[in-house]
Amino acid sequence: MAKVISQDVGAFYQHYPKAAIIVTAHAKEKDNAMAVAWHTSISSNPPLYGVAISSKRFTYELIIDSKEFGVNFLSLEAAELVAAVGGSKGKEVDKFHQFNIATDKSIKTEVPILNTAYAAYECKLVDDRSYGDHQLLVGEIVAVHWLKDAFAPGEILDLDKVNPILYMGKEIYTTTSKDMARALDRKVYGKR
Ligand SMILES: Cc1cc2nc3c(=O)[nH]c(=O)nc-3n(C[C@H](O)[C@H](O)[C@H](O)COP(=O)(O)O)c2cc1C
Repeated sequence: MAKVISQDVGAFYQHYPKAAIIVTAHAKEKDNAMAVAWHTSISSNPPLYGVAISSKRFTYELIIDSKEFGVNFLSLEAAELVAAVGGSKGKEVDKFHQFNIATDKSIKTEVPILNTAYAAYECKLVDDRSYGDHQLLVGEIVAVHWLKDAFAPGEILDLDKVNPILYMGKEIYTTTSKDMARALDRKVYGKR
């Protein structure tokens, strides 16, 4: 296979797939939700999570207003919902009503937690930094919601129970395959 090396970086989709998640917010007596593919854990102590969100998004306005956001992890069955909240604007429509989104009560914030999420984080905003055309919002995780049955011992996702949504870019969604999972102990492999 020929390798292409180019200084014309373009949209750089080469690092996909990425887990597609739904970020939620509440402010001005409004709930909102948007799809996010650009997100990452940043620190375990304190527990920090980062999401890259354009300042054009209504969700961004709500997060800056409330200083809180929710991070919701979903299985492939919710891919249509990801496309729905990622294809509509909270400024124009009440997405929770329009897409019939059921929520659970949050405990440390006012952010809506999606009832169908196999895991969700409630975050308090600790930083908002501008990088190019997106803002990197960093939140301290102050509460974790998770479906105990969806996780194997050691709190790792049980792929027999949940197929997490992966986003390929260009509106394509897929998931993981349990058959391809391999346990490779870094202590063993680091010594070879
Ligand atoms: C799969 C997917 C992933 C997305 N990832 C991001 C992202 O990481 N950051 C971002 O700012 N927008 C992202 N978007 C776009 C927003 O979800 C979209 O603009 C949404 O309409 C914003 O809603 P709001 O204006 O109600 O906040 C993504 C959209 C999709 C469909």
